[in-house]
Amino acid sequence: MKRGGSEAAKRRAGESAAAAVDDGMVVGLGTGSTAAHAIRDLGRQVDSGLDIEGIPTSFQSRELAREAGIPLTALDEATPDVAIDGADQVADGDLVKGGGAAHAREKIVDAAADRLLVVADPTKEAEVLDAPVPVEVLPDARSTAADEIEAAGGDPTLRAAERKDGPVVTDNGNLVLDCAFGTIEDPGALAATLSAVPGVVEHGLFVGLADEIHVGSDAGVTVRQV
Ligand code: 5RP
Repeated sequence: MKRGGSEAAKRRAGESAAAAVDDGMVVGLGTGSTAAHAIRDLGRQVDSGLDIEGIPTSFQSRELAREAGIPLTALDEATPDVAIDGADQVADGDLVKGGGAAHAREKIVDAAADRLLVVADPTKEAEVLDAPVPVEVLPDARSTAADEIEAAGGDPTLRAAERKDGPVVTDNGNLVLDCAFGTIEDPGALAATLSAVPGVVEHGLFVGLADEIHVGSDAGVTVRQV
């Protein structure tokens, strides 16, 4: 799915993060149009002799990595040295993710990695997080979880599929509630609240996980340590 800024900006961010990958590393492969640039660049580096293994975070990133010729492994077999992943919004190093409904697997891989490099374009940067938070729920919990999220101050909307009638169904067979909370003053507290709702598989708040933010623009790329 294509979202956010220019393709050139996304490519610069993706290639900047891919340049941080060294021989022998296990790399978490994020999902989305910006992470896709990193995956394609890593594929080109593998063609030129780079020796890495990738751990995909979604059906999309697995397919892309296969096409790019990146050997794959799994979390049962290896720990990622680094993960490269996109974001829907970035503020103060914290992220909202899940625009592609892949945030559950992304969080597992990103949290397991020694370092998480976030790739973004300037449209993703904000002073304070205020984007709707995607919450993956078990299908049976759709209504009860929505009620609890409303009670916590959120406004949940079941994510509808495009080019299919009915809801988005995640790679894990679950549904997604996009939950607007307005300005999120305390992402850690909201993350804990959402995690405690019965039937919530994972939410898209990534708090304290990012190590570097690579922001590409039409002019170049800036890298911020978190
Ligand atoms: C998928 C994600 C993506 O990383 C996020 O939506 C950013 O995507 P893009 O780089 O296409 O804007 O969290 O679940």
